[in-house]
Amino acid sequence: MVSAPRSQLPQWRALAAHRAELDAFHIGDALAADPARAQRWTLEVAGLTFDLSRHRAIDETRALLIELARACDLERWRDRLFAGELINTTENRAAWHTSLRKWGQTPISKMVSDPDFLAFAEALREGSVRGAAGEAIERVVCLGIGGSDLGPRLVTYALGAQTRGPTVRFVANIDPVELDEALAGARPQATLIVVISKSFTTLETLENARAALAWMRQRAPDLDVAKHLAAVTAQPDRAQQFGVPGERIFSFPDWVGGRYSVWSACGMPIAIAHGRAAFEQLLAGAAAADAHFAEAPLERNVPVQLALLGLWYVNFWGVSARAVMPYAQRLRHLPAYLQQLEMESNGKRVDREGRPLDYDTAPIVWGEVGTTAQHSVFQLLHQGTHWSPVDFVTCAAFAESHNERERLLYQNALAQADALAHGDRVLDPAQRPTASYAQAPGNRPSTLVALPRIDAFSLGALLATYEHRTFVQGVVWNINSFDQWGVEIGKRLLSQRLAGKRGSR
Ligand code: F6P
Repeated sequence: MVSAPRSQLPQWRALAAHRAELDAFHIGDALAADPARAQRWTLEVAGLTFDLSRHRAIDETRALLIELARACDLERWRDRLFAGELINTTENRAAWHTSLRKWGQTPISKMVSDPDFLAFAEALREGSVRGAAGEAIERVVCLGIGGSDLGPRLVTYALGAQTRGPTVRFVANIDPVELDEALAGARPQATLIVVISKSFTTLETLENARAALAWMRQRAPDLDVAKHLAAVTAQPDRAQQFGVPGERIFSFPDWVGGRYSVWSACGMPIAIAHGRAAFEQLLAGAAAADAHFAEAPLERNVPVQLALLGLWYVNFWGVSARAVMPYAQRLRHLPAYLQQLEMESNGKRVDREGRPLDYDTAPIVWGEVGTTAQHSVFQLLHQGTHWSPVDFVTCAAFAESHNERERLLYQNALAQADALAHGDRVLDPAQRPTASYAQAPGNRPSTLVALPRIDAFSLGALLATYEHRTFVQGVVWNINSFDQWGVEIGKRLLSQRLAGKRGSR
């Protein structure tokens, strides 16, 4: 059945009218007038808190947004997602990554991969996986790009320094510099190359794999390099043709989308670096967020609320960017991860019926780690002509840390969120600037996200929450969040150029 374009829904129009009523609204006034606002508007999932009080919204806004979501059949779409229905219609498959996060009696590793990648990761950590010359593996170089890189890289670094096992490095770019850096100081006899590619056709990844093998052959001509190769893919036959031994090919189902694949065998680098238990905790945190998304009423449903407030700015305030500022160095790869998750999923221009949209979809996602970003891009956030809602991602444990710099890190995030909300009027009168160039208007929205600790469970819950946020927006925008046809054009043009039929010089 063909649905009416979203912008023609009465609920959409009600929101447009409501937006005009908020011209005089100021977040600072709302916070001052209602001391309980922060408490009322703070939601929780799996121990993570999301303070939504610093938004250009009143209770009625949130009620109208929920009415829109209901009119878009959000609850039915959510059920279809969890049931593994074929919701990725342009690729004729499910988007069933959530099923990787549940397990009962079946060992999780058996459900997510064949052979057992978690057992292999543990063997690597114990030193019982040997190379062709009989040496234990000391360096694991993971080659992958996009979803086959960003999630594993984010979580591996977020869990901190490795205490055991081979050193894990990541390479995504085809620029030789990245592989050179990852191999620096390594010896082929003690190195394992893990090729992570769902399709096993991605140019960058395969070229890097060839270059890594050439590096091995050049330095150790007698080494059987196949024994130094492993692969993670949904196309095991292609990996085998490439020369990866069958017992080292870890597969995952086709219905796991690339940017949703950290939960599958693609997450093996996490287990190699931090152990099987950490990986299982990651899944457990994600499962807790899934349960919340599936069961919590829409009014207190974190991914739903995040999604709706996000599209409120895109579609009713004309804002086309959003910032993600992690206040934790260990979360430095979060902006890049979310860029792919949101921009590849929801950067779409036609609806599910193929009609061009007359409203905007995914905003440009950008961000940088705090406090570093305060001394570069925050000028625009406070005083620029554009504004961009911000997610401040913090760690609550830092507030009580014995380390003063961690306490300062946390306080900085709060100070920035308040400065954006209130502007300079929150300063003591003596400190308030009088010159217009020094004044800041405030009324700039942000969400304060707090993980209790930066551990595997909390990370799993955070990433799954962001996945569902992305999904909810896709439902309201009536787009397929699970394909990425736009990136194919560039790939095809490259093939054409390499075949000598250049589109341009
Ligand atoms: O080109 C885009 C893309 O297909 C992403 O969606 C994906 O995460 C990435 O490339 C890597 O793909 P693969 O895992 O098949 O190498």
